[in-house]
Amino acid sequence: MTDSPASDSSPFDHQASGSTASDGSTSARPASGDTPARVPAIDQDPRIGEVLLSEEEIAERIREIGERISADYEGEAPLLICVLRGAYVFLTDLARAVNLPVEIDFIAVSSYGSSTRTSGVVRLVKDLDVDLHGRHVILVEDIVDTGLTLRYLRRSLEARNPASLEVCALLARESADIESLGVRYVGFRIPGDFVIGYGLDIAERYRNLRYIALYEPDAT
Ligand code: PRP
Repeated sequence: MTDSPASDSSPFDHQASGSTASDGSTSARPASGDTPARVPAIDQDPRIGEVLLSEEEIAERIREIGERISADYEGEAPLLICVLRGAYVFLTDLARAVNLPVEIDFIAVSSYGSSTRTSGVVRLVKDLDVDLHGRHVILVEDIVDTGLTLRYLRRSLEARNPASLEVCALLARESADIESLGVRYVGFRIPGDFVIGYGLDIAERYRNLRYIALYEPDAT
């Protein structure tokens, strides 16, 4: 081992050392550039409003849907397709509630961007890796709102000749016509309020809430 000055500090120390202010105090923030605004912790954030669906309610419903899928697909190894990003939390819990050796793939589409209103145009951001030909496919969505995303995905996936294609959505707006959209498994019907948590975001944040809550942007 060398005894040069550089060997006194681990390379990982750079992440924790931060900068030294003129009064000698140290900070974990970068030495230059804009100081990022501090954000409240989740349990102190006033914008996270009323809990619409608790962690326990979600877990119980997923257990029920998992049992239905296990019975409906007995003897099969269905392919669960997670629609990124919003469905990633639901997919991980749903897959573990199914008593079958499911396979998993991911597709990413976007129509909302960072806005709370759909742009009206669905954009394919990442395609599947798996060939769907002859596969029993379950498309897993976090929410069906206008149905625009689902219609786009159905068209795209049906063209790949799966043996079957069903849809499982944790949430569907009360306004969504889930029969004509062909959604076989639905967790909960919800009203039109903007909701966050359990995969659902506002400007990419709050996906990591363990429950689903109303979002109140003006709350202080
Ligand atoms: C959300 C959600 C659905 C879609 C539903 O995706 O995950 O895919 O909107 O809305 P629709 O029925 O009106 O089409 P978003 O575009 O917000 O991307 P995200 O999943 O990355 O949050």
